[in-house]
Amino acid sequence: MLSRASLRTLTVSRHFSTSARRETKVAVLGAGGGIGQPLSLLLKSDPLVSSLSLYDIRGAPGVAADVSHVDTASEVKGYAADQLDQALEGVKVVVIPAGVPRKPGMTRDDLFNTNASIVRDLAASVGRVAPDAHILVISNPVNSTVPIVAETLKKLGVFDPRKLFGVTTLDVVRAARFVGEITNKEPSETPITVVGGHSGPTIVPLLSQNAAAKGVNGEVYEKVVHRIQYGGDEVVKAKDGAGSATLSMAYAGAKFTNSLLRGLNGEKGVITPTFVKSPLYEDKGIEFFSSNVELGPNGVEKIHPVGPLSAEEEKLLEACIPELKKNIEKGKAFVAQSA
Ligand SMILES: NC(=O)c1ccc[n+]([C@@H]2O[C@H](COP(=O)([O-])OP(=O)(O)OC[C@H]3O[C@@H](n4cnc5c(N)ncnc54)[C@H](O)[C@@H]3O)[C@@H](O)[C@H]2O)c1
Repeated sequence: MLSRASLRTLTVSRHFSTSARRETKVAVLGAGGGIGQPLSLLLKSDPLVSSLSLYDIRGAPGVAADVSHVDTASEVKGYAADQLDQALEGVKVVVIPAGVPRKPGMTRDDLFNTNASIVRDLAASVGRVAPDAHILVISNPVNSTVPIVAETLKKLGVFDPRKLFGVTTLDVVRAARFVGEITNKEPSETPITVVGGHSGPTIVPLLSQNAAAKGVNGEVYEKVVHRIQYGGDEVVKAKDGAGSATLSMAYAGAKFTNSLLRGLNGEKGVITPTFVKSPLYEDKGIEFFSSNVELGPNGVEKIHPVGPLSAEEEKLLEACIPELKKNIEKGKAFVAQSA
């Protein structure tokens, strides 16, 4: 019979890959929300997380009390609205799903007015209390909130581009799943690199780079690309006013956090798409771009180029660039105008 410890390892390894363990304190800002709650639960199951710090303007102590009963070794603490600084003390990784989600008919950019200031203020606190922390931004519009964090940290003189990530993993998760479905393969056989940004036309899936997916063409191709780009809308519509993707996003957020922790722990070859400060399209005025990034002990270790593209993908990228540029500039202008 399996011991309790080996059963636990089995359960955990179904969700996460592990490597040589190093203790890491992770904070979730927005832990009481639709994403924050299941994300906190999944992070509690990650053996690479030694301590979880849960913060929200509402409800984090309750979520922490609940999650803390899960029988894994990590410690969990919840912090009330006025305890942000305490929540950030000694954290190595900060995941930010704080903010409002979309309702039917809204684009991610419609969230800008509310979420921009939430993300700016949280980033300023991280910069002050935990300037060495790696920051993972989930709050939308990611194409603008990541530049907002960068500009805020620059103002404080603590911006390290290797430590700031826009979480685009849900696009990657959706792409593997949707392409797996239409090609009758396991999603593990259809990993799709998704480049660009994280909203509609800025999401550029590269099917031509996967052996099973490169034969997909015509109407089936058009449909699956559209589904990857607008998969979030399916969820927003089905939830009918009750929010956007939370469970699949929590899964994707925990998956990306685990990848980063493995990289920080020195595991080699951890490569995944993420939205980072990137030289790839700087000549086109694009400061941030998602492409495959190798994660390592310092965060971003190596930014991979997009690789060979099909004619369709060249067109998708052409449509992505001007929209992404606008979104990035909007984020930067917001911080420049802030007092
Ligand atoms: N990156 C992605 O792929 C992706 C996918 C889905 C949703 N999102 C985004 O994630 C965000 C959260 O979505 P949700 O469904 O969890 O929303 P939600 O409304 O359920 O939860 C948001 C939480 O943030 C908290 N909050 C608000 N202001 C805060 C502040 N200043 N400090 C700390 N916490 C604060 C709220 O109290 C709430 O608990 C939205 O912006 C949504 O658009 C991103």
